Amino acid sequence: MATAIAHPNIALVKYWGKQSGSGNLPATPSVSVTVAGLTTTTRVVPAERDALRINGDIRRESKVKSLLDALRDDFEVPPVSIETRNDFPTGAGLASSASGFAALVTAIDGEFDLGLTPRERSAWSRQGSASAARSIFGGFATLASQDGAWTGAELLAKDAWPLEVVIAVTAEEPKPVSSSEGMERSRSTSPFYDAWCRHADADFDTACRAVAERDFESLCEVAEHSCHKLHALMLSSRPALLYWNQATVAAIETTRQLRQAGTPVFYTIDAGPQVKAVCAPGYGAGVAKLLARSPGVLRVVRGELGDGARIVAEPRLS
Ligand code: DP6
Repeated sequence: MATAIAHPNIALVKYWGKQSGSGNLPATPSVSVTVAGLTTTTRVVPAERDALRINGDIRRESKVKSLLDALRDDFEVPPVSIETRNDFPTGAGLASSASGFAALVTAIDGEFDLGLTPRERSAWSRQGSASAARSIFGGFATLASQDGAWTGAELLAKDAWPLEVVIAVTAEEPKPVSSSEGMERSRSTSPFYDAWCRHADADFDTACRAVAERDFESLCEVAEHSCHKLHALMLSSRPALLYWNQATVAAIETTRQLRQAGTPVFYTIDAGPQVKAVCAPGYGAGVAKLLARSPGVLRVVRGELGDGARIVAEPRLS
């Protein structure tokens, strides 16, 4: 019985939109940080028939079924019982699908000795959820087209630039529109979609350079720009996708004030109302203290950059 853990990742340059055709290929490249402090633990055991439990509840997830079907086209994978637990809210804009699919593929690889390389695990994870391709890797990761193939890769090891992350949780409930549905809506209805895709490579290159040079200011500028463009794209979709609440806006304001007062910190927001603040090493405690006091913030979660998805010897599922 193999048990794997994986952490969510937070995109600094966002993926939003898919290419047509199969394989869940993104329309835009992305850069992320993998965050320790939030963990998905997944155990896979052979069973009479496929079954999935998330946090103890029996679930039917079409994306999991499709991934298992695709894996079985290439490998001997018997029916499996999958038990997965998140120690953070599921489906609330905290990237539970990223850590979920990364942990699942890693556990299946471990249980059935598929012998996958990290890049291969990343490619399989991508089929489940494209952002999961990045959670296979620790530290700074990318998902981009390389030599014609969309693949995840490590950009920089976590210890080489140990940025800190503070997540301001402003709502615990699942988001109203899933990322997959939202991005299809943006593709088919937003007048800004083509421009979003056209500028994505430039943002990706800028972010990769900023990470390579540990240039916080430049990373801050491009990450907030990518986030603002993503939400402009969402708002210009029909019907509009508005994932923010009042506490989201207040937390943005708090982060901007902190930066004006000299703290090296920037924010980013995904398909949900949580505000993710990324700060230079050593500033996490101060940022967390102020964000916790920002109006409407329910709680803050602090994280350091984490490792990629991996098999654990000591199963931690109860
Ligand atoms: C806003 O990876 O959840 O978090 O591939 O359809 O499962 P699917 O989408 P998903 O979308 C993530 C969107 C995002 C930006 C990002 O993580 O890059």
